[in-house]
Amino acid sequence: MSSTPSGTAKVIVLTGASSGIGEATARHLARLGHHLFIGARRLDRLTALQDELRAEGCHVEVMQLDVTRLEDLQGIASQTHATHGRIDVLINNAGVMPLSPLAALKIDEWNRMLDVNVRGVLHGIAAALPIMQAQGHGHIINIASIGAYQVWPSSAVYCASKFAVRAISDGLRQETDAIRVTLVSPGVVESELADHITDETARAAMREFRRIALPPQAVAQAIAYAIAQPDGVDVNELIVRPTASPY
Ligand SMILES: NC(=O)c1ccc[n+]([C@@H]2O[C@H](COP(=O)([O-])OP(=O)(O)OC[C@H]3O[C@@H](n4cnc5c(N)ncnc54)[C@H](OP(=O)(O)O)[C@@H]3O)[C@@H](O)[C@H]2O)c1
Repeated sequence: MSSTPSGTAKVIVLTGASSGIGEATARHLARLGHHLFIGARRLDRLTALQDELRAEGCHVEVMQLDVTRLEDLQGIASQTHATHGRIDVLINNAGVMPLSPLAALKIDEWNRMLDVNVRGVLHGIAAALPIMQAQGHGHIINIASIGAYQVWPSSAVYCASKFAVRAISDGLRQETDAIRVTLVSPGVVESELADHITDETARAAMREFRRIALPPQAVAQAIAYAIAQPDGVDVNELIVRPTASPY
C-alpha cells in the first residue's frame, strides 16, 4: 500500500465496485490510503476484493446493495457514518447499458437503465447529502459517460440516463456551497458493461465502437485526481477517452 500523507485519508463510499471501473477505483483509492466502503449486488466479488486489499494493509469494508433500493444506500451511508463519524466522498458508479434501438421496444431494459443509472444516483445523493450537509463538507462524484454529451443510434435511453446524471450533478453543484460535485465521463473502457446487451444489432455495433478501450485504471486515476484537490477546488467535469479512439 502506498501511503497517503497523514490527515488526507478520506472516508469514501463507492457503488458498483464488483467489476470494471468501480473495482479498479476501489483498488486505486484503497492503495492510496483512503478508507473504502464498497457496495454492489455480487457479494462474492466484493469480499474477494476486500480480502486482496486487506492483505496489502488497506482499509476496505463491503456491503451488498442494490442501488435501485433507497434503503440499501441509506444502509451503507449510515454504516459508514457510524464507523468513521463522517463520509468525505460518495462515488455513484453503478450502472447498466443494455443498448437497443427504440423500435425493439425493450421496455424492461429501458426501465432498468433509468432505475439503476438515474434513480440509483439520486438514491446515493439522498443517502449521503444530509450527512455531508450536517458535517459541513463532502464530495459527490457521479460517473456519467461520453453518452452524457452525445447520442448514437441504439443508445437513446442509455444516453438519456447519462444526460440526466449530468443535469443532476450540475444542479447539485449550484445548490451547494460546501459540497464538491464532480462528473466523470469516460469514453470506452474495458469492463463487463457491454456483456449484458441482448439486442443483436446493438451488440454488433458495439464490437466496432468498443475496439479501442481504456483500462479502467485510467478512470480510477481521474477520480483520484478530483478527490486530491484542496477543499476549495471543485473539479466539475472530466471527460476521459482513449487517445486513439474517435468516440
Ligand atoms: N465501460 C465503459 O466503456 C463506460 C463508459 C462510460 C461510462 N461508463 C459507466 O461507468 C460505470 C461503471 O461501469 P463499468 O464500465 O465498470 O461496467 P461493469 O463492469 O458492468 O460494472 C458495473 C457495476 O455496476 C454494478 N451494478 C449494476 N447494477 C447494480 C445495482 N442495481 N445495484 C448495485 N450495483 C449495480 C455492478 O455490480 P453488480 O452486478 O455486482 O451489482 C458492477 O459493479 C457505469 O455507470 C457506466 O455507465 C462505462
